[in-house]
Amino acid sequence: MISVDGVSKEINGRVVVDGLNLRIKKGTVFGFLGPNGAGKTTTIKMLVGLNKPDAGSVTIDGKAPSVASAREQIGFMPEAPYFYEHLTGLEFITFCSQLFATHRASREEIDELLQKVGIFEARNNKITTYSKGMKQRLGFAQALVNDPAYIFLDEPLDGLDPIGRRALKTIIGELKAAGKTIFFNSHILFDTEELCDEIGVLHQGSLLYSGPINEFTRGKSLEEQFVATIETLTDVQDAR
Ligand SMILES: Nc1ncnc2c1ncn2[C@@H]1O[C@H](COP(=O)(O)OP(=O)(O)OP(=O)(O)O)[C@@H](O)[C@H]1O
Ligand SMILES: [Mg+2]
Repeated sequence: MISVDGVSKEINGRVVVDGLNLRIKKGTVFGFLGPNGAGKTTTIKMLVGLNKPDAGSVTIDGKAPSVASAREQIGFMPEAPYFYEHLTGLEFITFCSQLFATHRASREEIDELLQKVGIFEARNNKITTYSKGMKQRLGFAQALVNDPAYIFLDEPLDGLDPIGRRALKTIIGELKAAGKTIFFNSHILFDTEELCDEIGVLHQGSLLYSGPINEFTRGKSLEEQFVATIETLTDVQDAR
């Protein structure tokens, strides 16, 4: 279970996340939505223990995510991943794997993972030669290398072609079937609708909604309902 209790974060004197409360049960696929600048990336960084909340707390199965034993169970794909580009894909993933004490993948498991994300053929090429979508797939492999129970993905579908998106959605489906908990940020609401059990909607650092997707959409498409919700708020603010 992911528990977020009264989490706030200020950056440069501005409140970026404001009193956030979330409960995400094990095995849930959770989509975290919100306009650009809403605070999604700031939140996900606090969930994986890279940023400390100014107030409130985050726990994953009762532990702070910054604790080493919790990190063994966490996979994270950042919004704009940086790689050691002079390494090959295989070398990079092997390096990432070695950062884990108990959840260290074998050579066979790494090959299998690279097959799964679709970069096995390019595994011995330097990352400098990879396309944007290939780097995105490598970032995904990096997030899965420790076979984590909790997977956090910041805009995982960004930059992928339709085939890549489908492949990634299939993998997310398999991870869900294997009982993994997946938390992801996305602007691609069509795919989010297909993938998620639950969503959270963040606007200017405040949570507008969290819960089952159908209770938010009420018969509309997720995109339609999301745009209507955000536009209504923007109109109210403009009228002030
Ligand atoms: N390191 C930082 N320095 C200054 N401001 C920051 C920093 N990180 C985040 N912010 C500010 O915090 C706000 C929220 O940023 P965040 O990246 O969390 O948004 P987001 O919801 O992920 O947006 P997007 O959909 O564009 O990725 C933005 O206004 C941003 O300018
Ligand atoms: Mg972001």
